[in-house]
Amino acid sequence: MKIGFFDSGIGGLTVLHEAYHLLPGEEYIFYGDTDHVPYGLKSNDEIKEYAAGIMDFLVNKGADAVVIACNTASSVAAQMLRENYDLPIIAMEPAVKPALETDERILVTATPVTLREEKLKNLIKREGGEGRTDLLPLPGLVEFAEKEDFESDELKDYLKRALSQYDTSVYSAVVLGCTHFNYFKDSFKEFFGPGMHLADGAEGTVKRVAQLLKIETDKGRQKLVINDISDLSEKLHTQYYLSGREAVDEETLGHFMRLHNRLEEMRNVS
Ligand code: DGL
Repeated sequence: MKIGFFDSGIGGLTVLHEAYHLLPGEEYIFYGDTDHVPYGLKSNDEIKEYAAGIMDFLVNKGADAVVIACNTASSVAAQMLRENYDLPIIAMEPAVKPALETDERILVTATPVTLREEKLKNLIKREGGEGRTDLLPLPGLVEFAEKEDFESDELKDYLKRALSQYDTSVYSAVVLGCTHFNYFKDSFKEFFGPGMHLADGAEGTVKRVAQLLKIETDKGRQKLVINDISDLSEKLHTQYYLSGREAVDEETLGHFMRLHNRLEEMRNVS
């Protein structure tokens, strides 16, 4: 089966990476809309227009199903896409439910768009999280991720400043409600301490893909380290596109390879 994954940029790779682990036998098309990143600071109409353009592209490329590997586009455009396209569309939502299974308050981090949408408010209400949930926009992390900056002092200062308004000791879980945030799991742990539960939607989303498309999940791939850019197409059966342009050059594919290897390291931080 050919499955399309899209995001405003490289955030969607965090979900695709889980698919490499759980659904290693499928074919993938990844579309990062880097001409328009960040979505999290755009209007709903703009996000819907970009999402519809990407769907047309993926359908033309023969996708049998599409994963909206972006919480922002999922909150704003999933319903519209489902009404207009006749193929399975799997959307994401911040992992509020597993976070609320912990004992104390939870902090939901995401883009400003995801945090302002009714969809999240309804989810928190439905899961009984009202009164136990704080919201924190972290749009700067999207920029750091796109620059492949996961460890600089500037990044750590940004996180420190953003979190300084909260008493971080009251939380038992932090929701990483933007797919770009998974690249920073180590920094979140460093900041909140090793006991903090980090909840993200990547694995759950891929499990839903498997369920919906009736594909058996695989536990075979224990560790995925990519040593050669040719593995991306040959072993991982993926075509990568940046805003419609196929990534075939060494530099871009090398970038994707490094990002997947970083995500493999972040899988051990939970
Ligand atoms: N990665 C996206 C998300 O999950 C959007 C980031 C952005 O473009 O602002 O929300």
